[in-house]
Amino acid sequence: MKEVKISIGKEPYSLYIGTNLLEDIDSLLSSHISEKSVFVIIDENVLNYYEEKIIKPLKNNTSKLSYYIVQSGEKNKSIKTYQSIMEKLIDNKYNRNSVIIAIGGGVVGDMAGFVASTYMRGIDIIHIPTTLLAQVDSSIGGKTGINYSRFKNLIGTFYHPKFVVIDTNTLNTLPNREYKAAFGEIIKYGMLADYTILLDLEKNFEEYISRSINLDNIILKCIQIKEEIVMRDETDLGVRKILNLGHTFAHGIESTTEFSKLFHGEAVALGLLIVSKLSFNLKLITEDYYKFIHKLIKKYFNNIFPVSINTDELVNAMVMDKKNKCNDITFILPLGKEKTKVCNNISIETIKNTILEANNEYSCK
Ligand code: NAD
Ligand code: GLY
Repeated sequence: MKEVKISIGKEPYSLYIGTNLLEDIDSLLSSHISEKSVFVIIDENVLNYYEEKIIKPLKNNTSKLSYYIVQSGEKNKSIKTYQSIMEKLIDNKYNRNSVIIAIGGGVVGDMAGFVASTYMRGIDIIHIPTTLLAQVDSSIGGKTGINYSRFKNLIGTFYHPKFVVIDTNTLNTLPNREYKAAFGEIIKYGMLADYTILLDLEKNFEEYISRSINLDNIILKCIQIKEEIVMRDETDLGVRKILNLGHTFAHGIESTTEFSKLFHGEAVALGLLIVSKLSFNLKLITEDYYKFIHKLIKKYFNNIFPVSINTDELVNAMVMDKKNKCNDITFILPLGKEKTKVCNNISIETIKNTILEANNEYSCK
């Protein structure tokens, strides 16, 4: 097991990464949970696989333990789920000294973080991310949130955990499509801050896809990039915006497909393809770089995305993006290896033409 200090927020926190950490989860968490009332927010599929391993040991160490099962899927990152979790916390008399433990992917992490940050104005939370995407990205950095109506992450807070436990063995039960989706965010980190990640993904494609490579390195690289950026801009007013590379399109696509066609990481991969095309059309990146990015993404995402995009609907959805200024849509544009810029003044015509081209090239249906 390795312990890494994450220096974000008022209090730095520890991130533990290794294998078989769940085997000993009660002693790893004991200083934070013993004699406390603990409320677990857990993904339904994760509960099926890990109930014996996690819930039972936690029961031995706490003064009270209940849990809420979040139904799987982005659609459930909703106000309805939030409300019903709140009701359970109130019914079971959880208080300011209680601790929430979030166990699942980014959906559960974002939801549980939002619950923890708002219940009684904030109670402690510990994240146990169980998808590769949550391990490389969403479990650190403090963004919490839920989708509202058609809008992605429209309601949320910044709120940091007490600590994070990454047991990479949990990935053994993660289905292939869910596992591969994470490479959308991993490629994002490579594009914005570390070209060697992209070379590594290209070289070791078979090993990554067959999961025959140790993932600690790539997880830690992504986390360290995120930490370094979030340390400089915790609340997304400046440099943190670059972590949204590909996300203006991705969030719009998720919203127009009612959060039900693509996993978030797949939408990010598609967003990275379209935004690279946009940069290429604007002559901001070379043809070689554009082709390299395209080839890599298409390799990890089997060449095709099971979604067709309605150009007008996508543009309308992007108008509501949180990063926007005035009436312009804000994009993070790649400028080449490890270089990006925030851009607000791209004409709607150029955006629409790029979406049309992308739709013809990458989508089926
Ligand atoms: P997810 O939480 O929906 O999980 C994907 C699927 O995997 C679900 O069906 C879940 O039931 C299943 N699952 C989870 N762990 C499993 C395991 N160990 N074994 C078997 N099945 C398992 O999706 P995700 O990709 O983890 O997260 C996406 C979410 O994260 C999006 O809502 C996105 O907006 C958010 N996100 C947040 C941040 C942030 O900084 N807060 C960053 C990136 C993404
Ligand atoms: N996922 C983007 C961020 O954390 O800022």
